[in-house]
Amino acid sequence: MFKLEENVSLKKYNSFGIQVFSKKFFLLTETSQLKKLFKQSQGKSIRVHGGGSNMLLTKNYDGLTLVIGTKGISILSEDEVSVLVEVQAGENWHEFVLWCLKNNYGGVENLALIPGSVGASPIQNIGAYGVELKSVFHSCEVFDIETRCFKTFLKKECDFGYRDSIFKNKRKGMDIITSVCFQLQKAPHNLHVKYGDIQKYLEGKKHSIQEVAEAVISIRKSKLPDPKEIGNGGSFFKNPVLKKEHFNRLFKKYSDLPHYPNPDSTIKIPAGWLIEKMGFKGIREGDAGVHSKQALVLVNYANATGIEILALAEKIQKMAKKEFDITLEIEVNIL
Ligand code: EPU
Repeated sequence: MFKLEENVSLKKYNSFGIQVFSKKFFLLTETSQLKKLFKQSQGKSIRVHGGGSNMLLTKNYDGLTLVIGTKGISILSEDEVSVLVEVQAGENWHEFVLWCLKNNYGGVENLALIPGSVGASPIQNIGAYGVELKSVFHSCEVFDIETRCFKTFLKKECDFGYRDSIFKNKRKGMDIITSVCFQLQKAPHNLHVKYGDIQKYLEGKKHSIQEVAEAVISIRKSKLPDPKEIGNGGSFFKNPVLKKEHFNRLFKKYSDLPHYPNPDSTIKIPAGWLIEKMGFKGIREGDAGVHSKQALVLVNYANATGIEILALAEKIQKMAKKEFDITLEIEVNIL
């Protein structure tokens, strides 16, 4: 029998720093504990936390919160050009990126400093500065909650899309990702430096994965709040994808609207720009606010509740609908 902690504050387990309580709590340190834990908790609700960096907690939880704290990185196989690495779900994502940089393994440098755990990274196919997780993802091992068996998902089975995967859709809440295998590149590396901000930063410098990571870290630090200082969950909304006619209508009115055409003739536009245009950037209502340097990020200055942050988000959504006829989709999980 595992001893479960009771009435535990989840404040330090969510990057928004929201104070709510979980009736029961368990920190998982060995994947092998899962089978026994689920047997012991039969019939009770269980909710899994990775790094807690993509969630907004709005109420106390009456069930068992399971924090995945398993650690370990191991090389499964390698040849002259690449290496297959298995990482346990509880490893911190950025620590893993640093490990790759130290070993000169390429592929994740553009994803430096993304908060959260390795186990959570496939769920929303984390992405930044022109690279998505799916480009290095090989497979992951999951614990299927219903059958209580471990199984493997290969990349082609994960239905990866923009901030999306099978684990957010068809299999939402059905699996616990226990480890992820990445296919990383040995030198010479294929670098992704086309993203505007990175190009600017690297001008005149020689290019290596370490320098690309340095550029990404510096850009992120200048725009995005550090959750250790100001609570936040990264981008709160997804960037909306518009049909051509809709975009043309808006572009006629706002000729400075940044836009990124997709191959299927739809057009992605930055939600941060829309939110700034509506005048929300830097505003504060109580302890809930919109970050002053990146309007896509909602923040908790100290003691905001999840409900207060959500109310601000809904206000933004309502105005975006009215002003631009755009439905801003929330990216973080509301729990
Ligand atoms: N912009 C504004 N005002 C703002 C914010 C952005 O006008 O307050 C404009 C910028 O001028 C720029 C454009 O919007 O022209 C894009 O801004 P940025 O490069 O900061 O990227 P983003 O589209 O706002 C996305 C990701 C971020 C990721 C960056 C860099 C989503 C939902 N967000 O943001 O991801 O770091 O690109 O690749 O796709 C996250 O998911 O938590 C996250 C931070």
